[in-house]
Amino acid sequence: MEFSIHSLFFLFIFSLFPSQYCAQVYNITPSKPLTQGQTLVSPGQVFELGFFNPKNTANKYVGLWHKSIFPRKVVWVANRENPLAVTDKLASLRIGSNGNLELVDGKQTSVWSTNISNSSSALVLDNGNFVVKNVMGADLWESFNNSGDSLLPSMLLGFDSDSGKRNFLTSWKSEDDPSTGIFLVGLSAQTPSQMFIWVNRSTPHWRSGPWNKAQFIGIPNMDSQYQNPNILDDQKQGTRYFSYSLESLGETNASYIVISSEGILSTWLSESGKNWSLDGDRPKNPCDNYGACGLFGVCKASESPICKCLKGFKPKSNEEWSKRNWTGGCVRQTNLFCERHTNKSVSSKGLDGFLKVERLKVPDFHEYLPSLAQDKYEDCKIQCLSNCSCLAYAFVNNIGCLVWSKDLIDILEFPSAGEDLYVRLAHSELDEGKPIKLIVILTAIGLMSILVSIVFSMHRWRAIQKRHIKLTTRSLESTDGFNITNKLGQGGFGPVYKGMLPEGKEIAVKRLSSSSGQGVEEFKNEMLLFSNLQHKNLVRIMGCCVKEDEKLLVYEFMPNKSLDTFLYGQTKRAVLDWATRFNIIQGVARGLLYLHHDSYVKVIHRDLKPSNILLDEKMNPKISDFGLARIVEGTQSLENTQKVVGTRGYMSPEYALRGIFSEKSDVYSFGVLVLEIISNKKNTSFYLYDQQLGLLAYAWNLWNEDRGLNLVDEVLGDSYSSSEVLKCMHIGLLCVQDNAVDRPTIADIALMLSSDIDASITIIEGR
Ligand SMILES: *[C@@H]1O[C@H](CO)[C@@H](O)[C@H](O)[C@H]1NC(C)=O
Ligand SMILES: *[C@@H]1O[C@H](CO)[C@@H](O)[C@H](O)[C@H]1NC(C)=O
Ligand SMILES: *[C@@H]1O[C@H](CO)[C@@H](O)[C@H](O)[C@H]1NC(C)=O
Ligand SMILES: *[C@@H]1O[C@H](CO)[C@@H](O)[C@H](O)[C@H]1NC(C)=O
Ligand SMILES: *[C@@H]1O[C@H](CO)[C@@H](O)[C@H](O)[C@H]1NC(C)=O
Ligand SMILES: *[C@@H]1O[C@H](CO)[C@@H](O)[C@H](O)[C@H]1NC(C)=O
Ligand SMILES: *[C@@H]1O[C@H](CO)[C@@H](O)[C@H](O)[C@H]1NC(C)=O
Ligand SMILES: *[C@@H]1O[C@H](CO)[C@@H](O)[C@H](O)[C@H]1NC(C)=O
Ligand SMILES: *[C@@H]1O[C@H](CO)[C@@H](O)[C@H](O)[C@H]1NC(C)=O
Repeated sequence: MEFSIHSLFFLFIFSLFPSQYCAQVYNITPSKPLTQGQTLVSPGQVFELGFFNPKNTANKYVGLWHKSIFPRKVVWVANRENPLAVTDKLASLRIGSNGNLELVDGKQTSVWSTNISNSSSALVLDNGNFVVKNVMGADLWESFNNSGDSLLPSMLLGFDSDSGKRNFLTSWKSEDDPSTGIFLVGLSAQTPSQMFIWVNRSTPHWRSGPWNKAQFIGIPNMDSQYQNPNILDDQKQGTRYFSYSLESLGETNASYIVISSEGILSTWLSESGKNWSLDGDRPKNPCDNYGACGLFGVCKASESPICKCLKGFKPKSNEEWSKRNWTGGCVRQTNLFCERHTNKSVSSKGLDGFLKVERLKVPDFHEYLPSLAQDKYEDCKIQCLSNCSCLAYAFVNNIGCLVWSKDLIDILEFPSAGEDLYVRLAHSELDEGKPIKLIVILTAIGLMSILVSIVFSMHRWRAIQKRHIKLTTRSLESTDGFNITNKLGQGGFGPVYKGMLPEGKEIAVKRLSSSSGQGVEEFKNEMLLFSNLQHKNLVRIMGCCVKEDEKLLVYEFMPNKSLDTFLYGQTKRAVLDWATRFNIIQGVARGLLYLHHDSYVKVIHRDLKPSNILLDEKMNPKISDFGLARIVEGTQSLENTQKVVGTRGYMSPEYALRGIFSEKSDVYSFGVLVLEIISNKKNTSFYLYDQQLGLLAYAWNLWNEDRGLNLVDEVLGDSYSSSEVLKCMHIGLLCVQDNAVDRPTIADIALMLSSDIDASITIIEGR
């Protein structure tokens, strides 16, 4: 009885609304086509495929979109070239008698098909892939291999040179017209590869710069922009694919990358099914346009005019150049020696030289010399010098030796990051006076006495304990020529290797990469600071070494590497029980207390994060990486007008947005660190209209709802002290308040950690 009443009720509803507002199906089979009234949804209701009508048009298409994110963004279109009429109510997407999935109009004429046979079902997966399967369940066709203008996480963008299959993004013609537009996005066939936006299929419009196995050189900070970008390059198979994945960033659970009909490549994120927000886009400024300054020109967006010639070059046409028409580019002022003496087989060594140009997106048309070992910087230079067609070289971390023999084009100068390029010039164009080639072997005292008098002559420096470490070139080989197997990790400014001193003591050597942006300033900074600071929760420096471009810092060796390998490396994660985590929190607080209050000079670290917390054999934390640290006097806040450096996700709002730092910005980073240690979740958050999202918002919500313990890393199970967890969480939240004055000082925190006092301070939520 009850059953029939229900059925009647549903019948009633169905007859009230046209069927298109109701029906969801989970697959298409030969007997079950997808009709106008229906949508095909993925098992988890994440994606939806159906008919749509772009606004202001009389056209209808079959498209795919995220089901619960509004306004809708269609990420894939089936019949992009052949629209149906919006009035065509009888069109359907079906598996025809020939086993081909096809879209037919009201007259049963095919307007689009997958062009395969033997299909038995079609369905949408929760990652957004629309797949057609045969009766055995094997994939016959997938939309991920037939992409439109959008790239979804885990989709592959690239090519298979053996089979000739290519997967590119192609823009829509306009916002309301999905047919193929003029922009194309894909990977180049160069080694290492670059990502390109081409216009009219072949003309470069924008270029990413070479891939260095972690990011594209021309997109510094890409890590946060495209989550976990990766290029799979299988030379045996002849395949090369770019992909990215969306790490679970708190509530941010959906993302796509799209090429717009205007040629802008942008990344979009959505948090908890809310409207899309822009995370990053290129080209962004006039310098991003391919070849903006012509041949041998360098583009710097922050300068006016944006273009200048490389040193040793002059505008091809001064007249055009002064009219700000830079397309003509620049020409060499003095011919190269090797060009003037083409017949001479003698080496032109000493007669041509190289000028170092820093912080660049290196030019297009690089050639890779894989035969040169990764650490043979000198060989790269010699190789280039010995061949007159070589116009420039660069030795890039994680890649090795790149040389250029075509005219240099599309060079962009960054304010920080980027790579150094060595441009070949006639000797007379190089600065007079040979660079002083010295192997500087310094004891810490030696370095101190030179630098102190120059840089900080006003300060009195405590004599440091005498530690004579002679790092001869030979002992450096004890890092095994910076063999990758000895790599311990990646510090803020370069890789850290394990090494051994001749007497057998294990050390960690940080090799400051020339690309890192850690210039001589930062190097001196770290050296000076370190040698003056001594605390059991700070890493101890043992010496340093400067040789030409090579700058090395030697630390005590930490067998347990850094905190992030424990937090974010799956295998080791279980080792971190609560007692260890609490000990780490307390240790970091003590280290910070020392920096802020108890040391001889007051130091703001500015880059506190898990990868900068090293762990000794007993898992005691030691703060490291002082490259960005600053000494401040009294209690003032400093406005850092030059550059905001640090790591997104750990920077306080006032520092990230306005460059103001004080001890309270370290307190903020400490708060993020504490919340990460408790939860084992990364706060790789992003800023959107001044608002910080992600882990912090998540923790706030839990706290406000009295569910603080839900934040605790699930691997801990029940084995933790709830009072300690809640105390740490409370401290963490106090530290990450938007308003710096509301945050406690590190002295307050140390007190709270070591006692039961914490209830007296209330949280003032700053948003
Ligand atoms: C369909 O596939 C056949 C054979 O695989 C091929 O010859 C034909 O060009 C394809 N048609 C389209 C429209 O792709
Ligand atoms: C389709 O299936 C038939 C019989 O199962 C088989 O003979 C044929 O090769 C299949 N065609 C394709 C293109 O796989
Ligand atoms: C899609 O492309 C990938 C990479 O080329 C390939 O491995 C896969 O088999 C393709 N899928 C189908 C159904 O053809
Ligand atoms: C692309 O091609 C169209 C038509 O052929 C032309 O009008 C347009 O100027 C081209 N754009 C570029 C940037 O080359
Ligand atoms: C993201 O989260 C929201 C709310 O929790 C959910 O409705 C949506 O389906 C999720 N989206 C994806 C792509 O998982
Ligand atoms: C959604 O976001 C887009 C782009 O950020 C914006 O243009 C649009 O107005 C937003 N729509 C709503 C309904 O918030
Ligand atoms: C810019 O200069 C180039 C040659 O240097 C010339 O061919 C071109 O016409 C100029 N463009 C404009 C807009 O003046
Ligand atoms: C350079 O070599 C070519 C042939 O190899 C010769 O004809 C020419 O005279 C030589 N020039 C000089 C300056 O030696
Ligand atoms: C010099 O460089 C060019 C371009 O890379 C290359 O084609 C040529 O083989 C090189 N010549 C020698 C002698 O290595």
